[in-house]
Amino acid sequence: MIGWILAILGIILFPVGLYFGGLWNKKGLLITAMAALSLTTGLTLLINELSTNQDKVLILNNPHTDNRESREQGSSVYISNCLSCHGANGMLIIDLHEHVQHHRDDVLFSYIYNGKMNNGMPAFNNTLSVDQIWHVINYMRSMEKPPVKG
Ligand code: HEC
Repeated sequence: MIGWILAILGIILFPVGLYFGGLWNKKGLLITAMAALSLTTGLTLLINELSTNQDKVLILNNPHTDNRESREQGSSVYISNCLSCHGANGMLIIDLHEHVQHHRDDVLFSYIYNGKMNNGMPAFNNTLSVDQIWHVINYMRSMEKPPVKG
């Protein structure tokens, strides 16, 4: 938003600068310099904004449909990275079934990618690929909850 405002302000200021004498007197020079500064800052902000928006779109959508192949890949990711803490059926530490049910895919993605610093859930951004994380999410959603004993 601020990027648009600055860029447009820059474009408007150029003719104003010219009107006041362009580069040949102090006032015109000052306004033209402001126009140039405003335009470049505005454009830089705009480019930044557009490129970060693209990242967000990538992360928000699970690109893998929840099919058997994806779950199988997720299962092996789970066995080698998550089982030690969460147990074979997801009932160690917390009830994973319960937690997974309550969160959207992109929220789960962020938990696994960034970890949860304060409560012992490690970040996997260096260990797992983006695809592996989506697969393990699909796998967790398909895990069977063990029957309650007693
Ligand atoms: C070092 C132990 C450890 C490992 C390894 C681990 N976790 Fe966790 N995880 C935790 C702990 C502890 C919590 C509980 C955090 C809390 O209390 O909110 C947790 C919480 C979670 C949650 C629930 C988050 C919420 O608040 O709803 C999910 C989902 C999860 N882990 C997925 C995974 C996946 C997938 C893997 C493997 C890629 C994994 N974890 C590996 C320790 C671990």
